[in-house]
Amino acid sequence: MIGEYIRLFKARGYMKRNLPFLYSWHAYVGYELDLYEAFKKPRTIIEVANDKSLQEDLLKRWVEVGGVIGYLRKKSKERYQTVKKFMVPASKYNPRSTGVLLKEMMELHIPTLIKYPKIMKSEEKEVFDQQEHGMVVAQTSSLLEQLAIPRVMKVMKKANPQTVVDVGCGSGGYLLRLSRKFPKIKMLGIELNKDVAKEAGEKCREQKQIDIVCEDVHEWSPKEKVDFVMLNNILHYISPHDRLKLFRKVSKWIPEKGVLSVVSPIHNSKHGGQFSSVFNSFFTAFENLYPLPSESDLIELANAANLKIQKMQPVIREGGWYQVTFTKK
Ligand SMILES: C[S@@+](CC[C@H](N)C(=O)[O-])C[C@H]1O[C@@H](n2cnc3c(N)ncnc32)[C@H](O)[C@@H]1O
Repeated sequence: MIGEYIRLFKARGYMKRNLPFLYSWHAYVGYELDLYEAFKKPRTIIEVANDKSLQEDLLKRWVEVGGVIGYLRKKSKERYQTVKKFMVPASKYNPRSTGVLLKEMMELHIPTLIKYPKIMKSEEKEVFDQQEHGMVVAQTSSLLEQLAIPRVMKVMKKANPQTVVDVGCGSGGYLLRLSRKFPKIKMLGIELNKDVAKEAGEKCREQKQIDIVCEDVHEWSPKEKVDFVMLNNILHYISPHDRLKLFRKVSKWIPEKGVLSVVSPIHNSKHGGQFSSVFNSFFTAFENLYPLPSESDLIELANAANLKIQKMQPVIREGGWYQVTFTKK
């Protein structure tokens, strides 16, 4: 009898802990099909299904869930309307929408984690397709930039550089924000993904002091010394062996008083253990992505590259995300 209760208690626990998934699922579907926008004004399910060529019964279920979780509300005459606008993602046509984060989570992270038993039993890993996912990943990364930028600005102000290189600059958000604050500094972004580099070029077009090049950092070197180098959210793309080569390379680029600034989640850090452990589980499922470095990995890398860690500051505590400042030994 007691065993039976425990079984039910456990099952109930799994179901309850999984409930928040309903909110993410609803928001993901709403973002993908732009449904919150479609129900911005009170509309019937039939109207929206016809407008968007959607299966009416499925839309009805999605609307029902929306009602239960409070994202949609029934208005008069079978019409429904989006409420809690601050909770649901903005339209996918809004480049600042947080929906890209849901897209990455739902289309990339969760399916990979669900495939874990299969991958573990096979001899092969997944391959991360830069072409397919590069743009979404760069967009989600840029959401974090808003939180990391005040810290990076502070470090940069202190370093007082004349030239800056952003390795794996993504869509150029860091460079753009930094160039507005420090308009006299020459800045260069290096980006491997062609589409992402193109977007960065377009985004930074107005800032004449910024150049973007589509290059692999392993094949590239600057013509002159660079006082400030950034590696923001790129270490998991680089194998531990290549990280060592990269740190040694960057150490040669920077002069005596130069600075290397790294923004990354740190494995086993004081803050955000849950986050970095699941992130690492995800990365390890791919043959071309690599686990996040721990603090001791960073110290080892710095030592081997004639650098030292000057400061390590959390930028998103619950995510274990840090900004780390390296200077020459
Ligand atoms: C997660 S995104 C981060 C973008 C940006 N730094 C940020 O923090 O928002 C990492 C970027 O590094 C680029 N990247 C990966 N390996 C690279 C390499 N070997 N050389 C240049 N860029 C690279 C990827 O294409 C991707 O756009």
